[in-house]
Amino acid sequence: MELGADHGRPVRNTSHTWDTQFLAAGDYIPALDALMQVLHAKDSYTASHCRRVRRLAESVSLKVGLDPLPVRTAMLAGLYHDIGKLGIVNSVLAKPGRLTASEWRSITAHPTIGRELLESFLSVQRAALVIQQHHESWDGSGYPLGLQEEEILPEARVLRVCDVYDALLSDRPYRPAYAHSQAVEIIANGIGTEFEPEAAEALLTITDELHQAA
Ligand SMILES: [Fe+2]
Repeated sequence: MELGADHGRPVRNTSHTWDTQFLAAGDYIPALDALMQVLHAKDSYTASHCRRVRRLAESVSLKVGLDPLPVRTAMLAGLYHDIGKLGIVNSVLAKPGRLTASEWRSITAHPTIGRELLESFLSVQRAALVIQQHHESWDGSGYPLGLQEEEILPEARVLRVCDVYDALLSDRPYRPAYAHSQAVEIIANGIGTEFEPEAAEALLTITDELHQAA
């Protein structure tokens, strides 16, 4: 933070903000930016993944016809969806091999930790709920609550498929990145089970266009 030339008031240093330029005036929460900086220092993959998922969530939520407010919520939730990984130890986050049962249990806590982090801020209550649901599956097999179909908020259904697609295209400690064509196949196979059909089909259309343009 630097001091402004006028009035000596602190001004927002945009070079350090966490991809929050899409926020409306008054919605910017410095504490969340600071937490994302901490997440970046702890786990740079997850922090960068959150930024990419925010952009994908914007495109997919527009494509499925969400109203402007839910689109914004999907973007906000996308940006902060894995902030709860601040509460997971690095040895688990970066483990190259199979997780033990207790390690897996600790990973499955991150959506709820994320909700708890965001719900202390009044302007992002809905995004906090969406974050808690970003690993819920259309058929009820997800976590942490085992919600299904319409029980899952529309923004969380969008986020779910954007999150998985971006993760598939990334190198992870336990596997190399998948090619776009393999990721498409995996997403297509999950339509109606992991993913809401409408959100998954929108994601596939958008990423196909992006892939062809690249
Ligand atoms: Fe996650």
